[in-house]
Amino acid sequence: MAAEVLGEVGAALRAAGARGLLVADENCPAELLAALPEGIPVLSNRWDLYRAATERGLDAHFSDFALPGDNSLDLIAASVAKERNLVRHLINRAARALAPGGCLLLWGGKQTGIKTHAREAAAALGSAPEVRKLGRNYLARVTRGAAVPRALDDDHYAELRPLLNYGGLPLFTKPGLFGWHRIDTGSALLAAQLPALFARLGRPARVLDLGCGYGLLALAAHREGAAWVTATDNCAAALAACARNFAAHDIAGEVIPSDCAAEIAARFDLVVCNPPHHRGFAADQGLTERFFRAAAAHLDPRGAAVFVTHRSVPTTRLADTFFARIELLADADNFRVYLLSGRRAP
Ligand SMILES: C[S@@+](CC[C@H](N)C(=O)[O-])C[C@H]1O[C@@H](n2cnc3c(N)ncnc32)[C@H](O)[C@@H]1O
Repeated sequence: MAAEVLGEVGAALRAAGARGLLVADENCPAELLAALPEGIPVLSNRWDLYRAATERGLDAHFSDFALPGDNSLDLIAASVAKERNLVRHLINRAARALAPGGCLLLWGGKQTGIKTHAREAAAALGSAPEVRKLGRNYLARVTRGAAVPRALDDDHYAELRPLLNYGGLPLFTKPGLFGWHRIDTGSALLAAQLPALFARLGRPARVLDLGCGYGLLALAAHREGAAWVTATDNCAAALAACARNFAAHDIAGEVIPSDCAAEIAARFDLVVCNPPHHRGFAADQGLTERFFRAAAAHLDPRGAAVFVTHRSVPTTRLADTFFARIELLADADNFRVYLLSGRRAP
């Protein structure tokens, strides 16, 4: 994030005090949280940012963009999210959260669609957008008019729906989640390995679905006879969808918010994982590597992890630090499924 935007957004939030709100999604830089004085309200849909904000003494809340609906705020500041429906949802919620005359600040790089989002925000909030280029970023300021003309079509962002079907079982999902309208090819390839793997290794008593999304891999493990599944993710929307799928399919287990399982002390017989390769708009191999590390750290000494990665990911190199044995289980449609065992002592 350019220093100019950081400076302006930070100053606006400090000026608004308790009547301002920073909405921090995965694109929100840690420096912005670090630059805010204690007590500033922050809402994040990411567990790691929520924890960081709490530790800094900010007035932090963790939710899937559940903004207040009482027109009480003078300022809402947010970076542009990757998913268009999520940005539209935020704009619609901002119309109900901001007092007339209150202001929505949106920022992002050129490739984020910031100018389009600013135009849409202006249409929804009943005013004209003001967009400025600051360094490599754009900062849009949109004031809420006295009347709010219309809500934007956000494809019912907030509603979970049984949109997908996994082997005859309905899966609840919604816009913005990974693979939300079509089961990801890589995840499906991993799930397809589980029957043979369970036959070979025995049915695991305890499975960890690391970065669970809406819980496809958890459901696959449950269907093949895993006795208990712990599912965890950093994202509030993913956790809500996963909990809904646990309830719908009576999965014995739990759904826990965490940053790469850091808050989970238990150890598991099997970890299933389709790790992320991006954080927001940015590629992040360090994040992928943390998933291998976390898998090894959460296994019983005789446990194993099953990972699926795109063939462009240097999985063998990344996993080698944490596992003594790496076995290729499947290679199809540009995805590879690996069985990782013999976890190395941390
Ligand atoms: C490639 S998706 C896989 C989702 C799901 N397992 C599937 O196969 O459909 C990666 C998931 O990792 C989650 N994630 C990203 N960063 C995370 C972190 N630091 N801790 C836990 N989960 C994270 C994302 O929210 C996303 O749900």
